[in-house]
Amino acid sequence: MNAPFRSLLYVPALRERAVEKARALPCDGVILDLEDSIAPSDKSAARARAIAEIERGGFGGRHLLIRINAPETPEGQQDLAALEATSMLAAVHGIVVPKAESAADIERVRARLPTLAPFAMIETPRAVLSLGVIAAACATHRLGGGLVLGSNDLLKAMGARDSTGREAITAVMTQLVLAARAFGLLPIDGVLNDFRDEDALTAQCQQARLYGFAGKSLIHPAQINAANAAFSPDEDEIARARAIIAAFEAAESEGVTTLDGEMIEALHRDEARQTLAFARACGITL
Ligand code: COA
Ligand code: MG
Repeated sequence: MNAPFRSLLYVPALRERAVEKARALPCDGVILDLEDSIAPSDKSAARARAIAEIERGGFGGRHLLIRINAPETPEGQQDLAALEATSMLAAVHGIVVPKAESAADIERVRARLPTLAPFAMIETPRAVLSLGVIAAACATHRLGGGLVLGSNDLLKAMGARDSTGREAITAVMTQLVLAARAFGLLPIDGVLNDFRDEDALTAQCQQARLYGFAGKSLIHPAQINAANAAFSPDEDEIARARAIIAAFEAAESEGVTTLDGEMIEALHRDEARQTLAFARACGITL
């Protein structure tokens, strides 16, 4: 699957103006949230609103995801029942499963909503220790799904401190990317709470890209452009991809050749082709 998931914007399901706004924002995906952004007393109102928004549609080419409450909780069970009852489920791409810690947590959701791509939130120490089995469970869906870093909950559970460079969880970030890529899933970075800090956002997006993440989850419209830019191929990458492909076309051998004094192999050509295809998918004119 080549569709971009560079920017996934959480929108609390109860914030009607924000949901309306999200229909026109340049994010690749919208996550209607029923979990952490909704107060316990508002859960059932939020659920009803989310279903109404799904049925209203209008999200265009944006992937629509819904974050339910943890599936083993009563609220999570009601979220699943409400989704099962809607006739517009085809408009929803994926379901974000919070506090996932085992294959069973994913399978429980899949059994009820088999058409939705599972996106497991990795936000507890146990989830980190079970990354491989959680990823394997998500990967059984035909669309593939994703692993989403839940940095706020994870840092809290670890007793660790938050920082722009995320020193406390860089090892987790690497493990999450490995588990996702091993099973053909999308690795999605966690949110930056300080949505007014553009420098921190750019730094985190670049860090996530460097680590292999496909995109970042976001909380505010002001964060979308930086994420889209960071997770798209830039001009230098596109120029290099073209040069690699041209070098291979000119080379006598299919196996190995050189570019600017560096060895390049067939894997680099394949990667270059993917870069160009992905650039096109991002709307970049080549
Ligand atoms: N999605 C879509 N639109 C959003 C938005 C979002 N996540 N967050 C803010 N907006 C809109 C607001 O509706 C407002 O538009 P308006 O003036 O036309 O009403 C505009 O963007 C500016 O909002 P702003 O005043 O800067 O933000 P705020 O103080 O109203 O809200 C937050 C700040 C953090 C509370 C809000 O962005 C939010 O709820 N984010 C998502 C939180 C979430 O889902 N958390 C759970 C996952 S970690
Ligand atoms: Mg959480």
